[in-house]
Amino acid sequence: MRPILLNPGPVSLSEGVRAAVARFDLCHREPEYFDLQDAVIHGLLNVYACDPAEWAAVLIGGSGTSALEAMMASLLPADAHLLVIENGVYGERLSRIANIHGIRSQALQYGWNDAIDLPALAGLLATGDFTHVAAGHHETTTGRLNPGEEIAGLCAKYKVRLLLDSVSSFGAEAIPFDHESLQAIAATANKCLHGIPGLAMVLCRQSALQQDIEPRTLSLHLPVWAEQQAKRSTPFTPPVNGLLGLAQALTELEKQGGWKSRRMHYRKLATRVAETCRQLGVREWLPAKDSSCVLRSYHLPAGLTYNQLHDGLKRQGFVIYAGQGKLAAQLFRISTMGEISDYDMARLEQALKLVIAGAEN
Ligand SMILES: Cc1ncc(COP(=O)(O)O)c(C=O)c1O
Repeated sequence: MRPILLNPGPVSLSEGVRAAVARFDLCHREPEYFDLQDAVIHGLLNVYACDPAEWAAVLIGGSGTSALEAMMASLLPADAHLLVIENGVYGERLSRIANIHGIRSQALQYGWNDAIDLPALAGLLATGDFTHVAAGHHETTTGRLNPGEEIAGLCAKYKVRLLLDSVSSFGAEAIPFDHESLQAIAATANKCLHGIPGLAMVLCRQSALQQDIEPRTLSLHLPVWAEQQAKRSTPFTPPVNGLLGLAQALTELEKQGGWKSRRMHYRKLATRVAETCRQLGVREWLPAKDSSCVLRSYHLPAGLTYNQLHDGLKRQGFVIYAGQGKLAAQLFRISTMGEISDYDMARLEQALKLVIAGAEN
């Protein structure tokens, strides 16, 4: 039986995407490849109606972290002073990337369960000490949706530039592209877009690419990728099959009504899971109003270890996800991204009842 992936990426694929990935062999120096590359770039800009005169979608080979690293290393000038907002694993990762690349930064640190204190952020930005802010949008550590719109608004107010980790929100949550402060977002094919892993992207302002920044990396320097892609070329071998899959996935997203429909759909599925968990006495880690549509975290049920829960659900055909680091023994996570049918949802409800209620008896 094909397992249904309820981990936060990679996701269960549609039949269309699975077929597209293996449809034909393609050399990345042939015109057919560049037609595909152009279509994927166009499709990515189209998701949030980004004007190509203003925005570039730059494709790179790699995971979501590669996109984060490419964004930070390529777009922060040598004299930047970066404020990194941390309230989970991924915010902390942004600080690690800044440190590795010698980018001067300061962390605004919160606990992994905490919301961002917007007045405190405003106070720091008002000092005029910072040129840039980097933040996670959907903090997948707990499922918290950080307030992208409000952060972008504060950055605009204090004339600070914003870099956003949208790896687990692009394609399903609102992203503040209209705010002048937003310079770039990092994303990946294999989460809310429903493509396969290995292809990542940074959507950034054309003006951000035109800064004269000394390359900090060879293979992740965005201006080189962008310049080559604009000329129907590519600097290095791209994940060709990832592009084949993403082209199909983007077509399906558009046919299904775009990111707002996907958000509605994800919310519906997440609410169904939360309701089943509530009936089983399993408490949500964060209130629904603070959670993304993509993923929710739950307290581990009494008397059940994560491994017991995971293995029991896996035997029923579902792969869930553990908490990270210090949360590993306390919570579990269920993401409802990807191709999940009504039938899968009904089976999941039965499986949760079987594994959780079964353990309590
Ligand atoms: C918000 C966020 N940022 C970054 C990443 C890292 O992505 P990857 O594991 O593809 O490098 C993830 C992965 O789940 C994520 O959820």
